[in-house]
Amino acid sequence: VTLGDLLRAGREALAAAGVASPGLDAALLLCRAAGVSREVLMGYPERRAGAGVEGDYRSFLRRRASREPVSRILGRREFWGLEFVLDRHTLDPRPDTETLVAAALDWLRGRGPARIVDLGTGTGCILLALLAERPDDTGLGIDVSAAALDVAQGNARRLGLDARAAFAAGDWTAGLADATADLLVANPPYIPRADIAGLEPEVALYDPAGALDGGVDGLAAYRAIAAGLPRVLAPGGAAFLEIGPDQAEPVAALLRAAGAAELRTVADLAGRVRCVVGLF
Ligand SMILES: C[S@@+](CC[C@H](N)C(=O)[O-])C[C@H]1O[C@@H](n2cnc3c(N)ncnc32)[C@H](O)[C@@H]1O
Repeated sequence: VTLGDLLRAGREALAAAGVASPGLDAALLLCRAAGVSREVLMGYPERRAGAGVEGDYRSFLRRRASREPVSRILGRREFWGLEFVLDRHTLDPRPDTETLVAAALDWLRGRGPARIVDLGTGTGCILLALLAERPDDTGLGIDVSAAALDVAQGNARRLGLDARAAFAAGDWTAGLADATADLLVANPPYIPRADIAGLEPEVALYDPAGALDGGVDGLAAYRAIAAGLPRVLAPGGAAFLEIGPDQAEPVAALLRAAGAAELRTVADLAGRVRCVVGLF
C-alpha cells in the first residue's frame, strides 16, 4: 500500500466521522506513523508504506475519529513558534492565547528584568513563550495540578529555559509572597459549568475539566485571582488575564474593585476582546 492510498483512505474515514479538517489531520497522523515530513508525503505519494506504518496510522485514525485532537495524539503542540509537550493533565494550548503573549510583550518592552508569574500554567506555554523572548526575565508558574506542573517543567527543560523558570503547586495567588510579580499572566478556566458538555467533543472530552470549569457563571477563577492581585503585584505591576466571550466587563469590574489604577482590553485580529489588563 502506498502513502497516497493511506492518505486518501484516512481523509475519507475522518470526513465520515465529522472531523472538520480531515485531509490535514490524516496527513499529520500519517507523517507521524510513517516517520516522514509533509514534503515527502505530498511529493512522493507513490512511496510504499513500511512495515507497521498502516497499523499505527489506523490506530491514530480511530482516535481522531473519536474526536481526540491531533495534538493530543501526537503529544505535541506548537505555540508561539515553540514546541510544547502536552498530556491529559494539561489544556491543549490555543492560538488565541498568543494574543495575551503579544500584549504582555508589548507592555514589557523597554523595561528592565521582570519577575513574571503565570497562574494556572498548564503546559507552561504562556510563561515559557515570554521567557524565550525576554532573556533577562525570570518566572514562576503556578498550577493546582501537580501532573500539569511536571509537564510544564519538562517543557522548560526541553526549551532550555529551566534556569529561569520555576514551577510550584498552589491555589492561584495563595502561596505567593507579597509584591513578588512585576507581571502576572493567567489564562484561567472560564467556561460556565453548564456549558462544558455542549462544547466540541475535542474540548469537552479531552481537555481536563479543571482547565475549563469556571464555576456556575464562568467567573469563579477571576474572583479568586483579582482578590489576591493587590498583594502579590509589585508597585507599578500589571495583570494580563485571558477571558472568554462576554467576560470583558465583569472581569474589568473585578480588577477595578481590586484597585487597578488603569484598565485596558486587548482584541485579536478578528476584533474579539481576548484579554483584560489591569495596571496597578
Ligand atoms: C485554561 S487552563 C490554562 C493552561 C495554560 N496557561 C494555557 O494557557 O494553555 C487553566 C489552568 O488553571 C489550572 N487551575 C485550575 N484551578 C486552579 C487553582 N485554583 N489554582 C491554580 N491553578 C488552577 C488548571 O489546572 C489549568 O492548568
